[in-house]
Amino acid sequence: MTDQKIETSNEQVLQEGDPNTTGHVWDGIKEFDNPMPRWWLWTFYACIVWGIGYTIAYPAWPLINGATAGLLGYSTRAEVAADIAEVDAANAPILARMEEVALGDITPDANPDLYAYAVQGGAAIFASWCSQCHGSGAAGVQASGYPNLLDDDWLWGGTIDDIHLTISHGIRNEDDPNAHYSEMTAFDEILTNDEIASVVQYVRNMSGQEAEATLASAGEEVFLNNCAACHTDQGTGDQFLGAPNLTDAIWLYGGSEEAIEYTVRYSRFGVMPPWSADASDAGRLSEAEVRAVAVYVHSLGGGE
Ligand code: HEC
Ligand code: HEC
Repeated sequence: MTDQKIETSNEQVLQEGDPNTTGHVWDGIKEFDNPMPRWWLWTFYACIVWGIGYTIAYPAWPLINGATAGLLGYSTRAEVAADIAEVDAANAPILARMEEVALGDITPDANPDLYAYAVQGGAAIFASWCSQCHGSGAAGVQASGYPNLLDDDWLWGGTIDDIHLTISHGIRNEDDPNAHYSEMTAFDEILTNDEIASVVQYVRNMSGQEAEATLASAGEEVFLNNCAACHTDQGTGDQFLGAPNLTDAIWLYGGSEEAIEYTVRYSRFGVMPPWSADASDAGRLSEAEVRAVAVYVHSLGGGE
C-alpha cells in the first residue's frame, strides 16, 4: 500500500445572505466584515461625551502653570482645608476650655478629658518643637546645657505655673523682654588661677564627688565671696536667678573638673526661645498649645 495523501480543503464556503468578507484569510478562515454591535458603539460614544464633559467640569488639561480649573471649582486642596476646618471646629470647645480653665485645674481628677487631651496634644507639640534640644524623651542633652525635664531638679521652678511661664517667654533670648534672664559672671579675669582651682574642688566636694581636700577647703571662702550670691551659701541654687543647685549630681553642663572650670572661667549662656505667640513675634504656639505642652512636661514625673 502506498501512502496516500488525502487532499482536504477547509476552504469556507460562503452561504447565501453572509456579509461581505474583509478579504483577510487565515488558514482558509475568512473574516466577515460585520458592523460593531450597537450596544458597544453607543457605550463608546457615551464615553467620549462623558470624557469631554468631565474635562470641562473638573481640573484636567495641564497648562504651563497648573491645569484648567474646571467649571465645578473642585480642588483636592480645598477638600483637605475643609476637612481640617471640620476637625478645628470639633476641637474648638475643648481648646476654648484649655485656655479658660485654671492651669492648676487641668488635672486627672478635676478635668480628666481636658487633661488627657493636653497630655496627648502636648506630647505631639513636644515632638515637633522641643525634642531637637531636650531630646525626644525629654531627658535633655547633658553637657550641651539642654536640661532634663523628667527629673525633679528645676532651674526655674517645677510648678505648673513656673513651667508655663518658662515655656511662654523662654530663657535669655532677645525676642521676649519677659524671658527669664540671668548671667553668671565669667571669673577668668576676676579670680586667680589658684582661686579657680580651689573653688572647682570645693564644688566637686559639695556635689559628693572626689575632690582634693586641701584645695576644696581653701575654696570655701572663694565660694562664699563670689558664688553664694547666686548659688546660695549651701550651693543649693536659686530658682529666681536660674542658678543651678550644685549639690546634687544633676548637671547641666557636666560635673567633671574640666566642665566646672570652664563654667567658672567663661560662664555659660543657655538660651531657650520664647514659644507663646501672644508674648512675642518669635513665638509659634497658641496659648492653648503652650498650656498643653506645659501640662505634658509637668506630667512627665518631675512636676511639683
Ligand atoms: C533651642 C533649644 C531649645 C528648644 C527648641 C527648647 N528648649 Fe527648653 N530649654 C533650652 C535650654 C538651653 C534651657 C536651659 C536654659 C538655662 O540654662 O536656664 C531650657 C529650659 C527649659 C525649661 C526649664 C527647665 C528647668 O529646669 O527649669 C523648660 C520647662 C523647657 N525648657 C521646656 C521646653 C519646651 C516645652 C520646649 C518646646 C515648646 C522647649 N523647651 C524647647 C533649650 C531649648
Ligand atoms: C550672677 C549669678 C551667678 C554667680 C555669681 C555665679 N553663678 Fe554659677 N551659675 C549661674 C547661672 C545663672 C548658671 C546657669 C548658666 C546657664 O544655664 O547658662 C550657673 C551655672 C553654674 C555651673 C554649671 C552647673 C551645671 O549644672 O552644669 C557651675 C558649676 C557654677 N555655676 C559654679 C559657679 C561658681 C563656682 C561660682 C563662683 C566662682 C559661680 N557659679 C558664680 C549664676 C551665677
